[in-house]
Amino acid sequence: MNILLTGSTSGFGRSIVETLAKKGHQVFATMRAVGGKNAGVARELEEWSQSEGVDLEVVDLDVLDESSVNSAVQTILAKAGNIDVVINNAGIGSSGYLEGFTMEQARHIFDVNTLGPLRVNRAVLPHMRERKSGLLIHITSATGRLYIPGLNIYSGTKYALEALVESFSYELAPFGIDCVSIEPGGYPTDIAGNVTVAADTDRLAGYGEGTNPASDLYEYFGEKFSGPNVPDLKEIADGVSDLIDMPAGQRPLRVVIGDVGTDGLEELNEVTKKIQKKYLDSMGL
Ligand SMILES: NC(=O)c1ccc[n+]([C@@H]2O[C@H](COP(=O)([O-])OP(=O)(O)OC[C@H]3O[C@@H](n4cnc5c(N)ncnc54)[C@H](OP(=O)(O)O)[C@@H]3O)[C@@H](O)[C@H]2O)c1
Repeated sequence: MNILLTGSTSGFGRSIVETLAKKGHQVFATMRAVGGKNAGVARELEEWSQSEGVDLEVVDLDVLDESSVNSAVQTILAKAGNIDVVINNAGIGSSGYLEGFTMEQARHIFDVNTLGPLRVNRAVLPHMRERKSGLLIHITSATGRLYIPGLNIYSGTKYALEALVESFSYELAPFGIDCVSIEPGGYPTDIAGNVTVAADTDRLAGYGEGTNPASDLYEYFGEKFSGPNVPDLKEIADGVSDLIDMPAGQRPLRVVIGDVGTDGLEELNEVTKKIQKKYLDSMGL
């Protein structure tokens, strides 16, 4: 399969790239700033692909920039002829009290995490609709379904992305395009270092200097990520790979992966699925 993945530099993205390339897929590992801050990691991936003899190409794509997204998709289509799978993985975290984010910061986090996947999907969908096939995978989050105090704006971006994914799943089914959310629990990636930190110090002063609404969660993650059973990022890559292998039209809307911070989530998804159906039936929709 020809696969476009966003955010290939680290964490889940890097692990997904390596897993899928080793499985024989043609992977277009996209990342922003290939000629700038990510030049080193791009080179590393290319060298790795040569030494492994796998089909991998690095392509520049910044999910914030529509022309960058469109040009990456056109580059891939020109090279590969088609795109079978898109994996919307790029994302950033947030840290601080909700009121403490400036409006500019709030827009930025939604822009990366929610509008980024929309931009990428919009760029590829005319092509997938024409072929009447495709798979759109989105790395959302357990906290896009169940709320964890302190994750405020990050959680908001993922709840919103979940709604977009569900919406696409209805609208794209007639075109034979599957649309799926992967909802990971907590994993030790670089995301904790890639957070937008609330910057409105006047607002933050009222909450107590140096405090953070997610401090209990950080402590919980700290324990989970330092013991003998540290979650393995590969679980997400394997989950993506399993979805790709499933027959079209039979993939689930939501997949929960991980043990940290996912208690009850599968149950919630099962119940929601039933209620959602009942809800639509009740309106004859
Ligand atoms: N780790 C967890 O516990 C967890 C749990 C649930 C969901 N997730 C989700 O999993 C996804 C991957 O995160 P991760 O945990 O693997 O963290 P990560 O290692 O920080 O990876 C984030 C990736 O997103 C990329 N990115 C950020 N802004 C971008 C932009 N404007 N354009 C293109 N790429 C951009 C980063 O690229 P740069 O190197 O250029 O910054 C990086 O490759 C995210 O959507 C995150 O919300 C993570």
